[in-house]
Amino acid sequence: MPETLLDHARQHQAELTEIRRDIHAHPELGLEEHRTAEIVARKLEEWGIEVHRNVGQTGVVGVLRNGNGQAAIGLRADMDALPMQEATGLPHASTVPNRMHACGHDGHTAMLLGAAKVLAETRNFNGTVNFIFQPAEEGLGGAEAMIKDGLFARFPCDAVFGMHNSPGLPLGEFTVCPGAAMAGCAFFDIVITGKGAHGAHPQQSIDPVLIACHVGTALQSIVSRNISPNDTAVLTVTTVHSGDAYNVIPQTAAMAGTVRTYKPEVMEMVKANMTRIASSVAAGFGAEASVDFRILFPPLINDATELKFAADAAAAVVGEGRIDRNRASVMASEDFAFMMNLVPGGHIRIGNGVDSAAVHHQEYDFNDEAIPYGVAVYAKIAETKLPRDTES
Ligand code: NI
Repeated sequence: MPETLLDHARQHQAELTEIRRDIHAHPELGLEEHRTAEIVARKLEEWGIEVHRNVGQTGVVGVLRNGNGQAAIGLRADMDALPMQEATGLPHASTVPNRMHACGHDGHTAMLLGAAKVLAETRNFNGTVNFIFQPAEEGLGGAEAMIKDGLFARFPCDAVFGMHNSPGLPLGEFTVCPGAAMAGCAFFDIVITGKGAHGAHPQQSIDPVLIACHVGTALQSIVSRNISPNDTAVLTVTTVHSGDAYNVIPQTAAMAGTVRTYKPEVMEMVKANMTRIASSVAAGFGAEASVDFRILFPPLINDATELKFAADAAAAVVGEGRIDRNRASVMASEDFAFMMNLVPGGHIRIGNGVDSAAVHHQEYDFNDEAIPYGVAVYAKIAETKLPRDTES
């Protein structure tokens, strides 16, 4: 029996676990991943892979060519941590206060490194594999930074593939979601400017607190009354801030929150309605409202052909019975969507185990037992997208 990719990946598990735990103990926020990026670059160099540093500030791209094939793919992982305090108590816990790898990007980085090592050893493909280590997935624009720095011009890809761990999904299992898998995301700020006065003299005020309450209520009509029942959207006001004293009517009130949709046109419609409602409700009370609506992420849309490649690769590694090809979409967002907007791609989720804490939780940790599965699936995608039998 020839050695399987999973067997091969398991041979590197100890080394990859060591790398993963080292990155975990030294988490870095988006666009500050200098140490992490240097670990990635040095490992790739050690394994004979061409390395490009500082692609999109702290991003790293490794390029591995084999044979004479012109086809190329991108395999992508993210490297950044979150600004939160870790409470796992693990030996490899974060050594930096208020910094934590609570989304498993340390594991994603280790798995993609493992795939690079395996493919550099086996070279069982014909073409180019670009290993894309992106910074700043958590809302600080890492994918866009790499794209603006010429990612796909310098490292052309016919398809791109990303992977994210999934707490609650058993170890060794994978899921994919056809079509729009993750939502587009916007943040908004609304500032209502009224007229401050003594708390006992409301007739001298234009009370922004009262107006904020009306605006917050009226905004809830957007999802229920403006959006087609066949579409999906979330509009959540997450903060309302105004005033400092019991007996002072403040001058302003500030509200903020998030919007999620699966279609860009629905996002634009929410933006237009929010702007109209906030300014018109405020005007009705004699106040003014300004709306700052910022679209951060497009929805993550899986390409049907490329997603099948990813799902088939997972099935080849762990068996068809351990892959769910029709996972429901989620309203969370993913920065990889910017890359998948430009190049057709597939995004696959890997089980982090049923006992895993949720991502972005203070007790979360990436499951090192998942590493060989992720390594093997990344490598399998490269082998099937860039088959040897196309050599001439
Ligand atoms: Ni994440």
